[in-house]
Amino acid sequence: MDQAGALREMKENVMPQTIERKIYNSNTRVIAVTSGKGGVGKTNITANFAYIFSKMGKRILLLDADTGLANIDVILGITPKYNLRHVLSGEKTLSEAVVEGPGGIKILPASSGIQGTADLSKGQKFTLLEEMDGLDEDFDFMLIDTAAGISDNVMYFNMAAREIIVVVSPEPTSLTDAYALIKILYQSYKTRCFMLLVNMARDSNEAMMVYARLSNATNHFLGLPIEYLGYIPHDQNVSKAVRKQKLLTEIFSDSKASKSMSKIIAKLCLKQPKDYENGTIKFFGRSTINKNVQ
Ligand SMILES: Nc1ncnc2c1ncn2[C@@H]1O[C@H](COP(=O)(O)OP(=O)(O)OP(=O)(O)O)[C@@H](O)[C@H]1O
Ligand SMILES: [Mg+2]
Repeated sequence: MDQAGALREMKENVMPQTIERKIYNSNTRVIAVTSGKGGVGKTNITANFAYIFSKMGKRILLLDADTGLANIDVILGITPKYNLRHVLSGEKTLSEAVVEGPGGIKILPASSGIQGTADLSKGQKFTLLEEMDGLDEDFDFMLIDTAAGISDNVMYFNMAAREIIVVVSPEPTSLTDAYALIKILYQSYKTRCFMLLVNMARDSNEAMMVYARLSNATNHFLGLPIEYLGYIPHDQNVSKAVRKQKLLTEIFSDSKASKSMSKIIAKLCLKQPKDYENGTIKFFGRSTINKNVQ
């Protein structure tokens, strides 16, 4: 089902509404940072990537999509008044809930335990897509920090992104969990473009070995190649920065982890994202709807 079809179905199941015809910015690169296993560094990576991008003059929207255990705000040392819950309930618009963080990053914080189960309802997912598309502000990049695992929410936010960074650590369980996530996203949601980022590696050799193991498995069992994005070394400055509730790239910009993050961002900037043929829902995908909705 294409984006328009998926949205139509969601709409029909939720509420009768008219879809406005309006020109939307669909140049925003929407990148999800995800993992099978928890604690591999997604939140740190997403927040620091956002900061590096913004220092380069890019306009960034950072979405904390970990509706179970939100913590972008904790890492950034901010206490937002509103969050994703207020947007989903219709109390606030997305623009009202967005706060500014270090380097001028715009952040939509999550709240822990939305709906008790942490899974968004169909209506909430639809509201979020509508709110994204209705934003007045243009962004160059939207970065999504997902929860770990293979929950419905994780699938939704990955589908809403055009590019997916899968973070793994060198631990074997991290690899098996990443494989499980990729397999489900590929087989059940037709998502086929994955970039692997190895975090907390000893060195580039170890990172390449991790990549080789995972890509061999996806190639062999799924017939799906995955791309190597790069690695971030294990660096004690990361947890020092977390304890200070400051960003690593802000206070330890010369650290080895910061330098490798900057390298990865440079690589991401050079990429020309393909217009993927995934039959899924996308944030900022309204240009497709304009063409298809009668
Ligand atoms: N490159 C690194 N070197 C050293 N420690 C790191 C590195 N990256 C992350 N960490 C540490 O790993 C821990 C987990 O990081 P983080 O919260 O970003 O992971 P996560 O994948 O978002 O976790 P969750 O799945 O619970 O959301 C933190 O204590 C962080 O300081
Ligand atoms: Mg996290």
